[in-house]
Amino acid sequence: MISKKLEAAINAQINKEIYSAYFYLSMSAYCTSKDLDGFANFFTVQNQEETFHAMKLYNFLLV
Ligand SMILES: [Fe+2]
Repeated sequence: MISKKLEAAINAQINKEIYSAYFYLSMSAYCTSKDLDGFANFFTVQNQEETFHAMKLYNFLLV
């Protein structure tokens, strides 16, 4: 059992990870709209990475 303080800190970090994921997704969409497919792919991969971080912390909180 983790403390409420640590739980709140992890929740805040999950929020930041998801914010970053959306931010990368928006940059990917922008690059796609400008026919910059290589950059779009890079930002899509970053989106997946940040989502992975968020889910790792999410699953940690649930165990
Ligand atoms: Fe991250």
